[in-house]
Amino acid sequence: MTAEKPPLGIFGAGWVGLVTAACFAELGHEVVVRDVVARRIDDLNGGRLPFHEPGLAELIERNRERLSFTLDVSELKSGTNLFFACVDTPPTTSGDADLSYIWSVIDDLGDPGEGTLVMKSTVPVGTGAKIRATLDQRGLERVAYVANPEFLSEGRAVEDFLRPDRIVIGSFDDEAGDRVTGREPPSSPLHENGPALNCAATKLEQLLTMDILVLATMKNAAKCVMRIAEFSESSNL
Ligand SMILES: NC(=O)c1ccc[n+]([C@@H]2O[C@H](COP(=O)([O-])OP(=O)(O)OC[C@H]3O[C@@H](n4cnc5c(N)ncnc54)[C@H](O)[C@@H]3O)[C@@H](O)[C@H]2O)c1
Repeated sequence: MTAEKPPLGIFGAGWVGLVTAACFAELGHEVVVRDVVARRIDDLNGGRLPFHEPGLAELIERNRERLSFTLDVSELKSGTNLFFACVDTPPTTSGDADLSYIWSVIDDLGDPGEGTLVMKSTVPVGTGAKIRATLDQRGLERVAYVANPEFLSEGRAVEDFLRPDRIVIGSFDDEAGDRVTGREPPSSPLHENGPALNCAATKLEQLLTMDILVLATMKNAAKCVMRIAEFSESSNL
């Protein structure tokens, strides 16, 4: 018997958000996508995509019944407890990442009760710990934080998402990470088709930062992350 797919909420109808939403819908999830730009939501509801990504328009069309696009955060929050942050983190003039959209997601999320916030946006080292601390200060200990960085490449993002050769997860507790990789039923068999690597949320951000340095000498960034992560796991870092 196929396990029931949980409904999902996605913050951000940009490149990562739309690929994520369409692919999850293709995998059988009901997905609500929320953005803050009215024009974008109007376009999506009118069947117009803001950019071209091979296969994406077809995927959205085929899964229309499972996808909805809204400005209203309460629509996103009703009926799901699994939220994906896919908002932009642009560089500031000083070169740091501007995390204001991430914080706006945390504010907009409010108190969803028991839930999991999955971070797909690219964030600097230490962000996971700051988000965890903020959630705790707000009395939201029941909201788990899980990092799940994307390795999608433009032009083949749909293929990369649907047939991942690896899924990297960082979480503060194993159960929350397992909910995202699907090892922990009934919440989510999100990615039952790819090998998953789970490690601590704070360690994962360091590994990904290390990866940028190692990139200079290695061709395949994702393999590189994997090797460092495997090493760190086996050495119990
Ligand atoms: N584009 C890539 O190749 C790529 C690949 C991997 C990871 N990433 C990372 O993923 C993140 C998203 O990138 P992108 O290219 O999809 O960005 P994008 O600019 O295409 O989309 C981000 C969307 O988030 C929306 N948004 C902002 N605040 C919001 C809120 N509070 N609620 C709902 N929506 C909100 C914006 O209006 C925008 O439509 C970034 O951190 C980026 O670094 C990007």
